[in-house]
Amino acid sequence: MAVIPVAIAGRPYEVRVAPGLLTRVAEECGERLRKVRVPIITDANVHAAWGGKVEASLSAAGKQAVWRILPPGEQTKGWQELAATVDWLLAEEVDRGDHILALGGGVIGDLTGFAAAILKRGCKFIQLPTTLLAQVDSSVGGKTAINTAAGKNLVGAFHQPSLVLADPEALDTLPRREVAAGYAEVVKYGLLGDAGFFAWCEAHGAELLTGDPAAREFAIARSVEAKARIVAEDEHETTGVRALLNLGHTFGHALEAQTGFSDRLLHGEGVALGMVLAARYSVRRGLMEASDATRIAAHFAQAGMPHEVSALGLNCDGGTLVAHMLHDKKMDAGTLPFLLMRGIGQAFLAKDVVLDDVAAFLDEELSG
Ligand code: NAD
Ligand code: GLY
Repeated sequence: MAVIPVAIAGRPYEVRVAPGLLTRVAEECGERLRKVRVPIITDANVHAAWGGKVEASLSAAGKQAVWRILPPGEQTKGWQELAATVDWLLAEEVDRGDHILALGGGVIGDLTGFAAAILKRGCKFIQLPTTLLAQVDSSVGGKTAINTAAGKNLVGAFHQPSLVLADPEALDTLPRREVAAGYAEVVKYGLLGDAGFFAWCEAHGAELLTGDPAAREFAIARSVEAKARIVAEDEHETTGVRALLNLGHTFGHALEAQTGFSDRLLHGEGVALGMVLAARYSVRRGLMEASDATRIAAHFAQAGMPHEVSALGLNCDGGTLVAHMLHDKKMDAGTLPFLLMRGIGQAFLAKDVVLDDVAAFLDEELSG
């Protein structure tokens, strides 16, 4: 088992990565589960696939799983389900020292974490991430949020979990497209600061995508190590270090917005395309070798993931995509910082990007 410490001052915790963790949730959580009744928030897909195993582990330890099973999908991450979930937790008499379990992908983790942050001014929670995206990114680092009419993730809190149990076997039931979308976030760690890991992805990414357990465990642990280092250095994204985790997200967010945050383009697919665009824009600015940008696009192509914006068939121009970017929460005092690259593994935050130039670049990308 890989055990990765997340060294947040005053609130350190562990991310454990190993096959079979979901079948031994009770023993991994140990004394954190103080009461017989254990509140678990999940969605219907995850409950169908993994609820029985988690429940069996708790029963064997003399605990009773008490489920809140939400509809799958991004729309669950809103005011309505948040309010209903908090009311449910209050009815369950969850106290500040109790732990709530979040079993699911980023939607369930973000919603449960935010509910835990505001319930009785903050109670504890444990992340049991079941998507690759959640295992390598959203379950670690304490960002919790819901979406509102004004946009995604605009209301939330920094609230760290007490423990994260990432079981690569959970991915065995995850649809292939969702695995690939999460893989974009794995590749992100290579591109932002670890050229050796990107080279590993080029050599072994296909094994991960087709289900090789060793490749999955290695990639999850290596990604979590990177995220843990960054989060420990800049928990609240104030120094610019944590902002590196948003590589590809500004371009990707614009593409997601233009496709209506729908199944047409999953978040991770938008991030993959966003990283290709960030690389190509870095080449345009004379920062990065064209061959590096070609390598990145070729890797996503090989992984069967979207890698050309022109292939999306978007009926818009570059200015429209830039307008979407301006609605993103990553705006800072009226300027839009961009994550660019000086090479593979060398991302940095550029604050001097001219939006008209980005729009012109996107016009070229959209026309192929
Ligand atoms: P998700 O939670 O919607 O899960 C994707 C789909 O897979 C859902 O239909 C779900 O029911 C299903 N599923 C999950 N695990 C499964 C399993 N093991 N077997 C079968 N089906 C399974 O999506 P996601 O990609 O995990 O998360 C996306 C969310 O994460 C977004 O809301 C995004 O804003 C958020 N996010 C948060 C952070 C953060 O730092 N907090 C970082 C990145 C993304
Ligand atoms: N996914 C971005 C962050 O955790 O900061």
